[in-house]
Amino acid sequence: MEKYLDIISAQLKEAFESKGYDGTRVAASVSNRPDLCEFQCNSAMALAKSAGKAPIMIAEEVAGQLKENPWFSEVSAVKPGFINLKVSGTQLAGYVDGMNHADKFGLENASPAKKIIIDYGGANVAKPLHIGHLRSAIIGESLKRICRYLGHEAIGDVHLGDWGLQMGQIIAELQERQPDLPYFDQAFDGSYPEEPPFTISELEEIYPCASGKCKTDPAFAQKAHEATHRLQNGDPGYRAIWNHILNVSIADLKKNYDALDVHFELWKKESDAQPYIPAMLEDMKGRGILKESEGALVVEIGQEDDKKELPPCIVVKSDGATLYSTTDLATLVERMQLFGPDKVIYVVDKRQELHFIQVFRTSRKAGIVPDQVELEFLGFGTMNGKDGQPYKTRSGGVMRLETLIGEINDAVLERMKENREFDQAEAQKTARIIGLAALKYADLSNQATKDYIFDLSRFTSFEGNTGPYILYTIVRIRSILNRYGKQPSGHIRFTGNEPEKQILIELSRFSDVIGSACKELAPHKICSYLYDLANAFNVFYHEVRILTEEDEEKKDSYLSLLDLTARILEQCISLLGFAAPERM
Ligand code: ARG
Repeated sequence: MEKYLDIISAQLKEAFESKGYDGTRVAASVSNRPDLCEFQCNSAMALAKSAGKAPIMIAEEVAGQLKENPWFSEVSAVKPGFINLKVSGTQLAGYVDGMNHADKFGLENASPAKKIIIDYGGANVAKPLHIGHLRSAIIGESLKRICRYLGHEAIGDVHLGDWGLQMGQIIAELQERQPDLPYFDQAFDGSYPEEPPFTISELEEIYPCASGKCKTDPAFAQKAHEATHRLQNGDPGYRAIWNHILNVSIADLKKNYDALDVHFELWKKESDAQPYIPAMLEDMKGRGILKESEGALVVEIGQEDDKKELPPCIVVKSDGATLYSTTDLATLVERMQLFGPDKVIYVVDKRQELHFIQVFRTSRKAGIVPDQVELEFLGFGTMNGKDGQPYKTRSGGVMRLETLIGEINDAVLERMKENREFDQAEAQKTARIIGLAALKYADLSNQATKDYIFDLSRFTSFEGNTGPYILYTIVRIRSILNRYGKQPSGHIRFTGNEPEKQILIELSRFSDVIGSACKELAPHKICSYLYDLANAFNVFYHEVRILTEEDEEKKDSYLSLLDLTARILEQCISLLGFAAPERM
């Protein structure tokens, strides 16, 4: 369906043109003064200069032209040159009724549909998931769902970090603790045990211990370095340990991502890109873009319009080792070969921005990614505590995701108990659903690039701009529909009251909001839409008699409207990555 705003804008355009003005850039927008009007048009101001007229004169001419237009119920010109609009409730309800009967509420698929890889895991093997990875999981999952809803083919890749120094550190530590394991025996030629020599909790203890030791014990650090090198060069015993680490760790990561309702199509790892490196470097050499700089091989990435000088992208270190950038470049080679995407989106901490500028520019220079394939970096800000520092545990340690989820669920349980009694099992289950909504909504309602302060008590509140408030609204509507006891006809019309019209206006914005959330990679737009729609419903709920309405036709239209509202709210939260409980 054509977007409602586009329909309104087209009416305005026509009116401007019929009065002899250039209509190309004429558009309406939702009013930012809802007390005065529902929609507004500021185009008279923009046209005043070229027309050589006062904007108010243009606005008055156009307003006069629109007086009889069936889409509007009130049109007025206001100084200095605004056109304030109220729309016809009947026409509006007709539009929303059309949405109610259309597939995806009338949302049109993006054209052309694209194949999009979204890189939004980035968890590091053997290190527990911490809240640094939380934002990429939450934002990326939502973007993936939004892209798909618009008809794109979106593929999520977890892109695990399994190639760094942490692997050598763990191996070195394991060798100190259990030197007799066959993996360390150069003469061993049997097959290595299938059982891993550690559990996930042991692994999680080994890693911080080893990494701490590296900082204080240079001899150990050297060992870890050598172990990393040997692993990367294919030592069979080390490879076998590494496989154990991967298996144990991936099983645990899957559990954690599942708990977040975050799912990846691809469980690729940094190591998967390594085989692509030699040929890639050869090719770069052939193109003459590799330069030697203090023994390292680098690619210059500066461009004329750069405001400041950007450091080159290092692809091989002076000791011959490759790095994070090399891996990301090779991953692009791999992705182009295996999937041929139209676009790759990276959802990563914004502190990695320079790294991605280097990788993107190098990949263009090296012909790895052709110009028509888009590379996009969505850098997100930090989730901070009230002290403005990255959110920590009470004792000041790195906050683990599981701990955080536990804290949220406890806080939600408290709130639930204030409202009514629950049986134990239902309470636990419901608290998890609400907790996830609290967490994801809190994160997504901020513009991704901004830092935000994690405020447990605010985020879990059932009132205000929170996930639980949105869920509460859905549950409330569902309960009204249940009490009605039958399926409303689905026919929505305007019965003449103001709160009803506000819901209609919000509903009519659906396609516009989803489209721009996708185009701008901005799930926060869906959050603020949800909040507006939920508020419009709650005003209606408090001011209008619904189930006690005596006019059956009117009542049926109200319930059809509520049913659509609930379905749109539900669709939106599913695009954000959470769902509503049955009761709360
Ligand atoms: N593992 C990395 C980290 O923890 C994030 C990886 C992000 N994705 C990428 N393609 N570099 O910092």
